[in-house]
Amino acid sequence: MKPTLAFDVYGTLIDTHGLVSRLRETAGEKAEEFSRIWRQKQLEYSFRRGLMQNYETFAVCTRNALDYACTYCRVPFTVKQKDDLFERYRTLPAFDDVEGSLRALDASGFRMFAFSNGSAEAVEALLAAAGIREHFLDVVSVDDLKSFKPNPAVYSHFLRKSGTTGSSSAWLISSNPFDVIGAVSAGMRAVWVKRSPEAIFDPWGIEPTLTISSLTELEESISVYLAVEGTGNC
Ligand code: LAC
Repeated sequence: MKPTLAFDVYGTLIDTHGLVSRLRETAGEKAEEFSRIWRQKQLEYSFRRGLMQNYETFAVCTRNALDYACTYCRVPFTVKQKDDLFERYRTLPAFDDVEGSLRALDASGFRMFAFSNGSAEAVEALLAAAGIREHFLDVVSVDDLKSFKPNPAVYSHFLRKSGTTGSSSAWLISSNPFDVIGAVSAGMRAVWVKRSPEAIFDPWGIEPTLTISSLTELEESISVYLAVEGTGNC
């Protein structure tokens, strides 16, 4: 049986900086920084809520982070403008390499799932808007557990929900180093999609199983790894 692939969504399939041109209309030259702070705080809020066991959905983390970014960057968005940005976050675009790569992996028979901090409803809407929902057998959301990545329980939940036997036959595919480290630490294999040469992997001594720069390299990288592993030389 082909391996199970758990695709992270925000930042891996979907471009979380896809609203920069929209932000530029009001935030001008601060648009890039605004987008970066928004994403950074969104993740920080999810980590903190997970640790505090004070769960609210990822959408709430996103909305709170939007308010923080407005204050931090001193960009006076009106409530209506913030509502508009928040709504547009539900239909962020996919990266250019996503559609073609998913289609090819699908045709090769990989078992593919979307696995996200986002609620199932939000992720379904996002994947549908990007025209890529059909490639996934299902959407697995941390919302089922009321916690967030990288809680090891959410990776175990993925294995159960996807019907994967043996954690090493499941691969997480993510551009987010914290997610890759979380998955490897929970016993899964993980591919880091290093989309930019400047991206830094956390120096924790827990390494990705494989590193690629685009999803177009994914199928060959996994196939070569498994072939070498089959010879006992991995
Ligand atoms: C997700 C986060 C990591 O989609 O952005 O799970």
